[in-house]
Amino acid sequence: MTTPPLIDPFARAITYLRVSVTDRCDFRCVYCMAENMTFLPKKELLTLEELDRMCSTFVGMGVEKLRITGGEPLVRRDIMTFFRSMSRHLDSGALKELTLTTNGSQLARFARDLYEAGVRRVNVSLDTLDADKFAKVTRWGRLGQVLKGIDAALDAGLKVKINAVALKGFNEEELPAITEWCADKGMDLTWIEVMPMGDLGNEDRVGQYWSLEDVRKTYAQHYALTDLAERTGGPARYVRLEETGQKIGFITPLSHNFCESCNRVRLTCTGELYMCLGQDDMADLRAPLRDYPNDNRALQEAIRAAIGLKPKGHDFDYSRRRADGQVARHMSHTGG
Ligand code: GTP
Ligand code: 5AD
Ligand code: SF4
Repeated sequence: MTTPPLIDPFARAITYLRVSVTDRCDFRCVYCMAENMTFLPKKELLTLEELDRMCSTFVGMGVEKLRITGGEPLVRRDIMTFFRSMSRHLDSGALKELTLTTNGSQLARFARDLYEAGVRRVNVSLDTLDADKFAKVTRWGRLGQVLKGIDAALDAGLKVKINAVALKGFNEEELPAITEWCADKGMDLTWIEVMPMGDLGNEDRVGQYWSLEDVRKTYAQHYALTDLAERTGGPARYVRLEETGQKIGFITPLSHNFCESCNRVRLTCTGELYMCLGQDDMADLRAPLRDYPNDNRALQEAIRAAIGLKPKGHDFDYSRRRADGQVARHMSHTGG
């Protein structure tokens, strides 16, 4: 580290940067995007060189975990150049983990290259194993392509974690099937509560909301659960299913707020830094980056000032049978 660590006003050390490298995606998941999204013009995006400088500056300030997100990160042109370049921070030991969250559609093409760039673990979003339901929830996705991508990732030696958004009346009854499928392939599984992000017009978030307290109870009907203290640096809490030895994660922004241990901030593809997924506070880092092409001091100052404004947490709440605390941004903007 070349500077003092990044500590926010609530004494949380910021060591995890999530970077959205594109707002585009080849899917249109119903809880994430509207069907006819307008995407940013290319000139608004940080170039790969700018992304490199931005991320490297954060690494110099104590960020140890870098997660590449989107939209779908693997649809960004030449993104492997960026991964290969970031691997120098793994080699130096400054970065402990370089990873990504993907919808899996392009993994068959890129799994090997990712492994070669030092990626060891990928999170793949998948909510159902039923091809028709998959087509419905992703609108544009094809299940077969994603399953091939997942197999390619496993073949390449990558550890895979499946992220499933828990949706009432949608994947409830698939819980045992998804769990067993993950166990067979040696993959961890994490359930996520659906969050009120982006006004999609067609959605009933409150009706869709399936509390993970209920998901946990459903597991308890089928398996013996042991709570684990283990953390991956993300917000998930884990249990082990004694019958399969499998690890199941729960990400519970609604039923159990985990903001007190938040260690992360999010950079969008245009260089905005969002200090919380569930709040609108952000800082523009593109200006100090572009204004001083050969000097990172202004950028470092802007980062430090932004971290100084990190809010305590989100205000998501469905308890009044309304989606309170909603933020207007789509999830694809900040990358989940
Ligand atoms: P691991 O490294 O595997 O622990 O990953 P992670 O859970 O940090 O990352 P992943 O991309 O798999 O995150 C899964 C989802 O959890 C995200 O897409 C979000 O929906 C949700 N999530 C992650 N971080 C936060 C957060 O700070 N606040 C809230 N409310 N949700 C988050
Ligand atoms: N609530 C919860 N999770 C969401 N994701 C996208 N939109 C939402 C939402 N509204 C998840 C995706 C993926 C990750 C990037 O974010 O399923 O796992
Ligand atoms: Fe794309 Fe992921 Fe959003 Fe689905 S959840 S539309 S795969 S970015």
